[in-house]
Amino acid sequence: MARYSRLPGSVALITLHNPPVNALSAAVRQGIVDAVQRALKDPKVTSVVICGQNGKFCGGADIREFAGPMSGPPLVPMIHAIEAVDKPVAAAIEGVALGGGLELALGCHYRIAHSKAVLGLPEVTLGLLPGAGGSQRLPRLIGLTAALDLITTGRHVSAAEALKLGILDQVTDNNAVDLAVEFVRSVAGQPLDSRRLSTLPCPCPPDVDSLLDKVMSKVRQRSRGALAPVACVQALRAAASLPYAQGMEKERELMATLFNSGQARALQYAFFSQRVVGKWSLPSGASWDNSTARTISKAAVIGLGTMGRGIVVALALTGISVVAVETQEKQLAEASRVVPAMLQREAGRRRLATPPGVISFSSNLQDVSEVELVIEAVFEDMSLKLQVFKHLASVCRPGTLLCSNTSGLDIDQLAAVTQSPGLVVGMHFFAPAHVMKLLEVVYGPRSSPEAVATAMQLGKRMGKVGVAVGNCPGFVGNRMLKPYLEQANFLLEEGATPQQVDEALEEFGFPMGVFRMSDLSGLDVGWRIRKEAGLTGPGVESTRTRQGRRYSPLPDQMCEAGRLGQKTGKGWYQYDGPGGRVARSDPWVDIFLETYRAEHGLVARSITPEEILERCLYALINEGFNILQDAVAAGPEDIDAIYVFGYGWPRHRGGPMFHAGQVGLGRILERLNHHHSHPDVPHLKPSTLLRRLVAAGSPPVQKWREFINKERVHS
Ligand code: 3HC
Ligand code: NAI
Repeated sequence: MARYSRLPGSVALITLHNPPVNALSAAVRQGIVDAVQRALKDPKVTSVVICGQNGKFCGGADIREFAGPMSGPPLVPMIHAIEAVDKPVAAAIEGVALGGGLELALGCHYRIAHSKAVLGLPEVTLGLLPGAGGSQRLPRLIGLTAALDLITTGRHVSAAEALKLGILDQVTDNNAVDLAVEFVRSVAGQPLDSRRLSTLPCPCPPDVDSLLDKVMSKVRQRSRGALAPVACVQALRAAASLPYAQGMEKERELMATLFNSGQARALQYAFFSQRVVGKWSLPSGASWDNSTARTISKAAVIGLGTMGRGIVVALALTGISVVAVETQEKQLAEASRVVPAMLQREAGRRRLATPPGVISFSSNLQDVSEVELVIEAVFEDMSLKLQVFKHLASVCRPGTLLCSNTSGLDIDQLAAVTQSPGLVVGMHFFAPAHVMKLLEVVYGPRSSPEAVATAMQLGKRMGKVGVAVGNCPGFVGNRMLKPYLEQANFLLEEGATPQQVDEALEEFGFPMGVFRMSDLSGLDVGWRIRKEAGLTGPGVESTRTRQGRRYSPLPDQMCEAGRLGQKTGKGWYQYDGPGGRVARSDPWVDIFLETYRAEHGLVARSITPEEILERCLYALINEGFNILQDAVAAGPEDIDAIYVFGYGWPRHRGGPMFHAGQVGLGRILERLNHHHSHPDVPHLKPSTLLRRLVAAGSPPVQKWREFINKERVHS
């Protein structure tokens, strides 16, 4: 709702009230409409201020309302009515003015903000465009070029930047509402025509068409099939070329198309998933709201390779002081040089308000004795990690949290060699660790709620999306990746080329297909893991079945041929040289695959992009169902957040489990059965949970958690 009050004198104050972010629900919109009418009718009122309760102006339209039928007064006429008022109306912006919140402010005649306020039109991130006049008013206020940037990226801007851009009239370090009240009093009675943005022309550069074409092609390239950014450019083209009323008509048409699209539903689901995963719970009943996190100020990182370096930077950026330990002299020297530079670059980019934590480099594990939390990031080798954990247990003060960045080894085994297994958890970062948003927090059967809570809170401080997951080989992300990679390799055996597989996946929206990605991260990473698992290496027979399962030795043979990917200049593709980035198809790989098929009596067949997607993605999704069934992930949102934030799953497709729901669970089951029945396509046996969900009428993804919990109680 919105509260109306008349301040002593002549100013009416309208306060939005809908905690926590004063979203524009039907009740709030009705409240604003009523309050504006009241202010208009009251002859004693000469000016109006609109503000938000609890130091937050407005977080935009109420996203939860989008799922159902709309009720209450619509936003567009409400904002028009405010703009048309013949008494000055100012928005007093504290906290946030986002989406519809900023559009409301753009309908006011003046905008005054607190210096800590954040503004933006992030609709594009929800699969929408600023559909309450924002796409037409903002460019008229700040010019087409700046509006294109803000609206197509959805980025938030600080009050200082908003002032510079011309969105705000004044910024204060003091009370923004008081200043707005004082301000509107001072301008009461002055003409308002030039303050009504809908009446202004849109400032455009002379080469407006070429600017719009350039932005459109950039947006298409960046958006990987997302519709909303393209629609945003179209709406801004209308702002630049049409009178306001026609521009609004275009905005309405585009919004109508986007509003009911699967992409908008997926992106809104992704918005809520990100928040759901923060409310973690463990099978023991411990959860985010009944567990206490420790605040960490001193930490250590062991192993300064690819991951360790990024983790050190991520910790230091939060102000934590870090002891960085590395045993190899060369690595230590390199890290001591590279890490401070990485930190400085990142701190500059993020414009840190507080100084970063101090980093001290050491080759001696003894130096970690005073820290409160350790993150181990040595090679993925269980015997080495056990050795390090034993050593840490003897060096660290009792009560120190010991974490591992392992990509999939048993956390409980590591915990077992320490005196306090409850204080051991996995903190699985993704490369580069100071950039990638995902953090899997892995709890073993003995991990304490306090340890999980501390790792989750630390992740949040580092700006990560933390997801609490159970302990099993590969945890959630890498466990699902395995069947996906397997199918990609099987497809090569059956006749596909790496390019065909990659193109199908990239067309779906992944930034990189599986083989391009494999070349980037290095084929030897998986090779080492497979050797460790006894699946390949000297003495292992080169068959297509290993340890009782169908196996493709293709990636091993690539490594044996010295083709490790970009680092050697050759992998599934060829590059200009070691470290080269531009992938070109390589006739060597075609011959290699033909020879392999001939050796094994395989006849290449033509494989469609549909089959590639079904085989790779449904294998991954099927493992997701197994993971839910095993309670390794608490719900589909956890899996989807992991894939969106850590594995490049296109956000506008919500995540693998959401996608399964959109395709239809019955269809996924039918296709898995179809491929599974083929004698040479193994590992696609449909998960029991998937079968049960289909048998239960394929409930929507939002209901799966409840379904799984009920099934668990009954089983
Ligand atoms: N509608 C409904 N609920 C919202 C919401 C919104 N616009 N914005 C936030 N919430 C909810 C969150 O889901 C969360 O709910 P929960 O407590 O049940 O999990 C709660 O408010 C608090 O949100 P956060 O945890 O995100 O709180 P933060 O303080 O970290 O962040 C925020 C606040 C920056 C406002 C962030 O919530 C945000 O970015 N919100 C979305 C803003 C947005 O995209 N607005 C555009 C909406 S679309 C629109 O306006 C269309 C128009 O053009 C017609
Ligand atoms: P890396 O090979 O780049 O670095 C490992 C570092 O640990 C080396 O510098 C090595 O000298 C050092 N080291 C070895 N023994 C040590 C000891 N006893 N004390 C101190 N330092 C020691 O390995 P990377 O890629 O950084 O991986 C580290 C861990 O992170 C592994 O468990 C890996 O599975 C995991 N991981 C790796 C990811 C990646 O993309 N590379 C992603 C996520 C997790």
